Amino acid sequence: MNILIIGSGGREHTLAWKMAQSELLSTLYVAPGNAGTASFAVNVPISVNDFQNIKELVTTKDISLVVVGPEDPLVNGIHDFFLQDEALKDIPVIGPQKAGAILEGSKEFAKDFMDRHQIPTAAYKSFTANELEQGYAFLETLQPPYVLKADGLAAGKGVLILPDLEEAKTELKNMLVDAKFGQASNKVVIEEFLSGIELSVFVLTDGKNYLTLPTAKDYKRIGEGDTGLNTGGMGAISPVPFADDVFMQKVEDRIIKPTIDGFVKDNIPYKGFVFIGLIKVSEEPFVIEYNVRMGDPETEVVIPRIKNDLVSLFKAVGNGTLDTVTLELDERSATTVVGVSGGYPEAYENGKVITGLDTIEGSVVFHAGTQLRDQEVVSAGGRVLAVTSYGEDFREALKTTYKNLEKISFQGMYYRKDIGFDLENQ
Ligand code: AMP
Ligand code: GLY
Repeated sequence: MNILIIGSGGREHTLAWKMAQSELLSTLYVAPGNAGTASFAVNVPISVNDFQNIKELVTTKDISLVVVGPEDPLVNGIHDFFLQDEALKDIPVIGPQKAGAILEGSKEFAKDFMDRHQIPTAAYKSFTANELEQGYAFLETLQPPYVLKADGLAAGKGVLILPDLEEAKTELKNMLVDAKFGQASNKVVIEEFLSGIELSVFVLTDGKNYLTLPTAKDYKRIGEGDTGLNTGGMGAISPVPFADDVFMQKVEDRIIKPTIDGFVKDNIPYKGFVFIGLIKVSEEPFVIEYNVRMGDPETEVVIPRIKNDLVSLFKAVGNGTLDTVTLELDERSATTVVGVSGGYPEAYENGKVITGLDTIEGSVVFHAGTQLRDQEVVSAGGRVLAVTSYGEDFREALKTTYKNLEKISFQGMYYRKDIGFDLENQ
């Protein structure tokens, strides 16, 4: 069968790499893809929100499965677009319809969903511009630091954590009244601050049955020791050593099952990944956020640990038969470290020639922001590539990753050398 993956990052390269190993695959298309996917799939220069051209591609190339990487086209209704189109409606799309994607598209919706289904999360209230005074009053009932979240998608920047009450009030006004995050902050969720260690859990569901995929931990800050600005993610480890069986049973019983049952109870059709951002407070799991896609760079460590044929897993999602599938995992650890452009997550330059890719031994390089220019691979994004390795534990895997990262270079390249630093005492 012919398959289309939508997206162009490390997540999509990893999904493509895994699906390319399937005997069920004929031709793999990636829209728009990157230099990494170009080496074994057909890149098509169509943007992820250009549904009309995606339709054209799917119909002319006889594509019978579509896997959506990023959240944007899901929140914009790509799955609904397929279902409403006579020529496309029977083609399975991996990724929820709008009714499910709103779990990521609206923080308020997600919080109300958790409330309704008794899923543990931080206490919260949400406010609009004409409820500013009530927002101030709610802030006064909380202990610092204060957590303010723009309701809508704000490119990962919509969460503010502020130590001071007056500052929190000023920022609340900036968000609600002065549209600090544009339309995304028309509504703001204010919530209790939870103190603990974060991890991510991924679930693949057909809307009724589900598989819990390996856990992962990502490192979002640009600087070592988790300092500096937030990024899309600088590295990841799977499995998470502190997510033991007892903890994961709590996650399953209190969070994963009620989430999937919640979809059924609320009539939310959901075929795709659920990415549950968790925080472990003492020994108890709480949900920080839902995303409706895989994480990046978590995908680069989660997917390589799955032994099943990914295309057959996706077919089971499409058919609603995920209950017939048993997940098989590689028991080794996987780690990835992301090489980024100098300056990222602020201004950076593209077009830097990347060398050393052909010298890698024992790791897989997933491209995140790269392009082919006259047969050369050049940088084309803030996060440029992610180097993934296996090992008996994360320390061993990291050694291989770092050894290979040293062989890769492009002008201005930077990566964190301390991925996993916080796991030593857990
Ligand atoms: P989000 O976009 O919801 O993932 O939030 C971004 C980051 O803010 C999370 O990864 C957490 O590190 C932090 N965060 C969000 N909500 C809370 C909370 N209630 N308590 C503590 N930290 C939080
Ligand atoms: N690495 C975090 C994310 O994909 O949102």
